[in-house]
Amino acid sequence: MRVVKDRPGVGLHPLLAGRWSPTVFDSAHEVDPSEVELLVEAARWAPSAGNSQPWAFVIGRRGDETHRRLVRHLARSSARWAPTASLLVANLCHRFVEDTDWDYSEFALYDLGQAVAHLTLQARGLDLFVRQFRAFDRAGMAAEFDVPPHWEVTTMAAVGRVPPSDPAAVVERQRRPVDDLLWPTD
Ligand SMILES: Cc1cc2nc3c(=O)[nH]c(=O)nc-3n(C[C@H](O)[C@H](O)[C@H](O)COP(=O)(O)O)c2cc1C
Repeated sequence: MRVVKDRPGVGLHPLLAGRWSPTVFDSAHEVDPSEVELLVEAARWAPSAGNSQPWAFVIGRRGDETHRRLVRHLARSSARWAPTASLLVANLCHRFVEDTDWDYSEFALYDLGQAVAHLTLQARGLDLFVRQFRAFDRAGMAAEFDVPPHWEVTTMAAVGRVPPSDPAAVVERQRRPVDDLLWPTD
């Protein structure tokens, strides 16, 4: 896979151009409950196949009991940075029809990803940043929150503010070039 050091294209909407995934969060910042509601509202209005809406979220605000329960199941790598974010979110996907191995929707994972993308952009609108991650104990998390077998804890997201002057917050970003994304190639 070809990747190049790059930055978002000129003219991209500021919500998109200003999005990136930090691993350094302001450990003093708190998200207002009304902002949490807006993040969920953004996910709620995402499109989904057949309007199946195969998503749900466990949300912990740093300092509350849900946050403590989420932190317990982070992997060693994410435990280094995720707990300082203002929110931790477990992103749940409705994978199967209850008590069967039939897909609830062929596009359930796709749709969950899209809902989280909407949440991520709404976060930018609130001057918040999101890092999605897989580095946690999926089975442990499911057991902790009594997630039934037809649902899956697919990913997590850390949401918060980035300390303005923290040099560790500046990341080099790489992307595949535009030519590689377009088919057919000449
Ligand atoms: C589904 C998914 C899983 C991810 N898992 C991890 C992870 O376990 N640990 C981590 O540090 N970042 C994780 N990331 C963040 C990506 O590494 C990051 O989005 C990517 O490097 C691009 O950087 P950018 O979001 O700043 O553009 C994940 C992102 C997604 C969408």
